[in-house]
Amino acid sequence: MKIHHDIAGLRAALAGGRPVAFVPTMGNLHDGHLALVRQARAAVGEGGQVVASIFVNRLQFAPHEDFDRYPRTLARDAELLEGAGCDLVFAPDEREMYPEPQGYKVHPPAELADILEGHFRPGFFIGVCTVVAKLFQIVQPDVAVFGKKDYQQLMVIRRMVDQLAMPIRILAGETERNADGLALSSRNGYLSEQQKQDALLLSRTLKSMISRWQAGERDLDGIEADAMQALRDAGWVPDYLTLRRRHDLGPAREGEALVALAAARIGQTRLIDNLEF
Ligand code: PAJ
Repeated sequence: MKIHHDIAGLRAALAGGRPVAFVPTMGNLHDGHLALVRQARAAVGEGGQVVASIFVNRLQFAPHEDFDRYPRTLARDAELLEGAGCDLVFAPDEREMYPEPQGYKVHPPAELADILEGHFRPGFFIGVCTVVAKLFQIVQPDVAVFGKKDYQQLMVIRRMVDQLAMPIRILAGETERNADGLALSSRNGYLSEQQKQDALLLSRTLKSMISRWQAGERDLDGIEADAMQALRDAGWVPDYLTLRRRHDLGPAREGEALVALAAARIGQTRLIDNLEF
């Protein structure tokens, strides 16, 4: 496996015309990321090239967020990627990705990008779409794999690829969890052992919201308010806990495929999770 820090070197390594599968990440990798790499391999087979990128993208962090303390663990990440069967790593520094301030940006549509995560992290999806579009230009993959863990991000990227007619097939990876059910996340590293235990409440609360819906309750506001209160009672600061339809993340409706989504802070750490049902 080769690590490229510059665009020219990566492009040269990709020049052979073999199918390319791409997994963009911000590094500090865990089994969730590695599952996406294995999915990328399965998509293009042994004859293809699997590329992962590692870049902590300043554009998608607000000034008060954790850009500076986001863990940068390239040596360990490279070992894990090699073990998962990755062929090439693209790990640019900021000067390589943003040699001048990135004035050209991709603005996703408000109805999808200004709700939920986008509401609580204004500009987040502009940063994500801009870097992903740029990475797509650099890597020119046939296939790219994104995790359902970041459910809204996956939707926003799928729409971008559709609307901008990018010739890339987007695959979704299931959310990997630890044995207790906690969704794996680079940000779990910020949590104390006690907080890791407490963090289970997030997926449990999503499950109890789903149970109420499945039992026939249709008072969405009531279900959501109770869930928010359950988290507050346990010392969390919730941003949202909500039942939505998968198709466009509009309010849950009878007879549609649904997803429960949550974002909440425990101590200094903001966690997100979701469950389809
Ligand atoms: P990052 O948080 O590093 O996530 C990289 C990819 O791994 C995303 O597609 C994310 O959904 C997926 N992922 C994270 N946790 C997962 C889990 N527990 N199970 C399965 N997949 C998981 O998402 C980003 O980086 C950035 O926004 C990025 C797309 C790289 C743009 O900067």
